[in-house]
Amino acid sequence: MSAPWAGLMRQALELAERGRYGASPNPMVGAVLLAHDGEVVATGAHLACGGPHAEVAALATGAARALGGTMVVTLEPCAHQGRTPPCVDAILAAGIARVVIGTRDPNPAVNGRGVEILRAAGVEVIEGVEEEACRAANRRFFHWIATGRPFVTLKMAMTLDGKLAARGGRSRWITSEASRREGYVLREEFDALLVGVNTVLADDPRLTRRLGLNPSPHLVRVVLDTSLRTPPECALLGNDPGDVTLFCREDAPAERRRELERRGAAIVEVGGDEYGRCDLRQVLRWLGSHQISSVLVEGGGEVHWSFLREALAQRVHAFVAPLVLGGREATPSVGGAGFGSPQEAARLRFIEVRRLAGDLVVEAEVESV
Ligand SMILES: NC(=O)c1ccc[n+]([C@@H]2O[C@H](COP(=O)([O-])OP(=O)(O)OC[C@H]3O[C@@H](n4cnc5c(N)ncnc54)[C@H](OP(=O)(O)O)[C@@H]3O)[C@@H](O)[C@H]2O)c1
Repeated sequence: MSAPWAGLMRQALELAERGRYGASPNPMVGAVLLAHDGEVVATGAHLACGGPHAEVAALATGAARALGGTMVVTLEPCAHQGRTPPCVDAILAAGIARVVIGTRDPNPAVNGRGVEILRAAGVEVIEGVEEEACRAANRRFFHWIATGRPFVTLKMAMTLDGKLAARGGRSRWITSEASRREGYVLREEFDALLVGVNTVLADDPRLTRRLGLNPSPHLVRVVLDTSLRTPPECALLGNDPGDVTLFCREDAPAERRRELERRGAAIVEVGGDEYGRCDLRQVLRWLGSHQISSVLVEGGGEVHWSFLREALAQRVHAFVAPLVLGGREATPSVGGAGFGSPQEAARLRFIEVRRLAGDLVVEAEVESV
């Protein structure tokens, strides 16, 4: 049944890619509109959150020939009034006879209602075309909707022996310029960046977007800072300070809190974990409920360990440089107490391993802990 539509769905998936940097926290969606005689008359993509959905974008140019035609769309059309009106209304108003869908929208406000409304109105609905690819394209969105927590990727720039920094804390620069550029591309794709306070103290990073790929300058920068050791004069707060959120425990010094707030930081109190540090589940739940659907964690090793120990990271994106720093005191890419045996270790699956300039890039999915 799905074979004739698969090619068009792949075209719609390519269109969906155009929303890679701007659609979040909405899903990436692409649509192809065919006239009654099967000719492709328009295409659309959801480019930016708050902007037209893919179906409406396609109808903006193709509505005149849509009567009796087909809409091929990667995600079930929405049935609710969100930031924009429901797409099913636009589809019905255009007189489209058939809608081919890649995957249902797990958002509780939609989840099957779009399909129901279309069918009830006499539209033929074909579901599940290239479903796996359509789900994979929006894995971050699906994770966020299903768990209420953002999708987490750990980004590590390390030496071949797994060090993030030399003894004494110096880490600039371990990887090549090309790897660092790819790291900047990642920043454009995520809603928030997160680091531990030791990284702020050691590197004084700005954690900004630099490439202009994302239409929104709004990047939430997050620091896990149990007792508010972040220096008020740090570069992070000198730069777009309104977007800096520091998570701390409620017993963090009040005077320091006031000082950091005066510098524009938002301070959020969370409970302590078993080591007395910020409880990651609470942190992620807070971020998820504030429309943060994806987080890029940029270190350091203690923070990476917490995410892996608690099984709260979904991916690792590692840049491995042909350097060996050695030394028991050099910062490991994953610190903490470590797992007790290979059987207990976090298990990952390599998705992609490639060379970039002189480095290796390893992308892996966390399978289990
Ligand atoms: N090469 C790279 O890609 C890269 C990237 C980042 C950092 N680095 C390097 O890594 C070094 C810093 O790494 P690090 O491992 O020492 O520290 P880190 O992970 O940057 O920060 C750890 C600190 O964050 C605070 N924290 C709060 N909640 C936490 C939680 N749930 N889990 C973990 N930490 C939590 C704790 O502060 P309290 O102790 O106050 O509780 C903890 O000590 C620096 O030398 C930096 O240059 C390298």
